[in-house]
Amino acid sequence: MSGFDPKIAFSLAGQSAIVTGGGRGIGRGVALGLARAGASLHIFDRDASAAHETVTLLNSEGHKAHAHKVDVGSESEIEHAMEAVASMGAIDILINNAGLAIRKPSIDLPLTDWEAVLKVNLTGVFLCARCAARHMIANGKGSIVNLASIMGLSGGGLYPNISYQSTKGAVINLTRALAVEWAPHGIRVNAVAPTWVRTDFIKPLTDNPDLVARMNAMTPLGRIAEIDEIVGGIVYLASPAASMVTGHTLAIDGGFLAQ
Ligand SMILES: NC(=O)c1ccc[n+]([C@@H]2O[C@H](COP(=O)([O-])OP(=O)(O)OC[C@H]3O[C@@H](n4cnc5c(N)ncnc54)[C@H](O)[C@@H]3O)[C@@H](O)[C@H]2O)c1
Repeated sequence: MSGFDPKIAFSLAGQSAIVTGGGRGIGRGVALGLARAGASLHIFDRDASAAHETVTLLNSEGHKAHAHKVDVGSESEIEHAMEAVASMGAIDILINNAGLAIRKPSIDLPLTDWEAVLKVNLTGVFLCARCAARHMIANGKGSIVNLASIMGLSGGGLYPNISYQSTKGAVINLTRALAVEWAPHGIRVNAVAPTWVRTDFIKPLTDNPDLVARMNAMTPLGRIAEIDEIVGGIVYLASPAASMVTGHTLAIDGGFLAQ
């Protein structure tokens, strides 16, 4: 008998997933969510001790997980780590989550800062996707989820963040283009565009109560997001439940982009 069974559609049993920037924040939450759906995990992070902490947490729940010290700005480190993952089995899922923001007025932004953000948020996403796709193509299937942002689909407005906003906008169209190019290989490529999420990433912003009040006021649901509110959408896009979804950017934004 046919019919939708959520236990099957959302199950990642037997699948292997890489989460970049999985050492803390959203990446750690996503790693836990994917593991609880049945996947084994590979945590790529430039902060080796943070990656190990996430692995310890995953192991404590009985999940299989490995830590890899990887800077997503380094092609050789990415390739080396992906080879190590591939030697243990298929690469089924890649979550391109590592990200960087340097919030400065555009008029004063040094080229080195611009290039540093592009290297992690755009080039890093491309390099990880390209390397994973080489393995996924050999296996005839795969699912990639990129972390974009509401800042990639709006002009922001509360503080200047030009390099971040440019890269997140680019990630959304990279997602569409790779989805089209790799669809014949059975690889789906999607993105999520979260609103502000309570992590260290925005601590300099959330430490300012006036700014938080303005973020809340700009959001129809009236508040910023917690990590777990972002995880479900990512697990969904990675899972067989989204088998007909590709090239899509899912806003998880409390209505920010609906205005
Ligand atoms: N927090 C938010 O408000 C928010 C909103 C929208 C989108 N995002 C996006 O979500 C993603 C995760 O954000 P977060 O809030 O969890 O950040 P975070 O700063 O809490 O965690 C980021 C993790 O990525 C790692 N990392 C950073 N640069 C790296 C690199 N070059 N190579 C490998 N690892 C690296 C860090 O060591 C850290 O473990 C980012 O892409 C960010 O742009 C965050």
